[in-house]
Amino acid sequence: EQPDAGGNTVRLLKINNFLYPPFSADVIEGVPDLEIREDDIIICAYPKAGTHWVWEIARYLLAGATTGVPLAEKDNCMIEWMPASSLDNLPSPRVLNTHLLFRQLPRQVKQKRCKIIYVNRNPKDLAVSCYHHHLKLSQFYNYEGTWDDFLPLFLNGQLDYGSWFDYVKDWEKTVQDNPDVPIYVTSYEKLKQVRYVSSRHGVSWTVRVVKNPVDEITELSQFIGGSSGRCDRQFAARVEEKCSFRSMKSRKGWFDMSNEGEAIMYRKGEVGDWKNWFSVLQNEAMDGYLKQYMSDAKTKFLYDL
Ligand code: A3P
Repeated sequence: EQPDAGGNTVRLLKINNFLYPPFSADVIEGVPDLEIREDDIIICAYPKAGTHWVWEIARYLLAGATTGVPLAEKDNCMIEWMPASSLDNLPSPRVLNTHLLFRQLPRQVKQKRCKIIYVNRNPKDLAVSCYHHHLKLSQFYNYEGTWDDFLPLFLNGQLDYGSWFDYVKDWEKTVQDNPDVPIYVTSYEKLKQVRYVSSRHGVSWTVRVVKNPVDEITELSQFIGGSSGRCDRQFAARVEEKCSFRSMKSRKGWFDMSNEGEAIMYRKGEVGDWKNWFSVLQNEAMDGYLKQYMSDAKTKFLYDL
């Protein structure tokens, strides 16, 4: 039971000095020995970085189609939550999810050189999302604290999967030290970002889109390959639409493991919502941590689009 600043507690699982969510208890020790297939794709991300969004995108890209790809009902592909037998029963090619570090993954991921997609998200939006995740899953975490009391838990790495700062740096090192493992690094913001530049010609203006999530999904599809080999932009645009926040929220699937029909995996789906939550002091505290722990990190985060 991890206490927060206000005396509420978060229920966690601690094994070998690493924190896991309570619902990993029955399976976590079997993870290193899980059977992995060469054509598995593994989505890795700190909780709330957009894991399930990228999972959904990857499944469509892999299928080469935006129809006939059913959402798994009340079930998922999270390596450290699901019993091995459920994962074994999934048809190939599988897209598996995890919040684990590279060294905690099943041994065969490295042996079989599975493709890995690592997802980043700016820590301010991520912390806010994490807070709501803990409230919505209060039946597991048994947590009822306020945002003010919760933020220090995030900053001090007192939540499942430990410090976000350590996590991001660990994955940076993984990418650097394992050039033989195919790892594609993407981010929540890249998948959301649309940027325009305008230029003036006499009295008229031209507006150009210079950044678009479809570009990122096209690149992702080239990385994944896919049985039908569909990596064209037109298809990527269809996948982007199908996986938009609105579209995914309106579909039913295992994401709906909610109380009272509220979809827990979809909250706001935006970049910059942190501004509605962080006080000036909290923002300074976060910036202080970033300065202290991340000044040697290479990843640059976008806090606004
Ligand atoms: P917010 O709480 O900021 O809305 P994860 O899958 O890693 O648990 O991440 C959950 C976060 O991703 C939540 O963020 C959720 O709303 C957001 N999300 C889920 N599907 C999304 C989509 N299709 N587009 C954008 N954001 C999405």
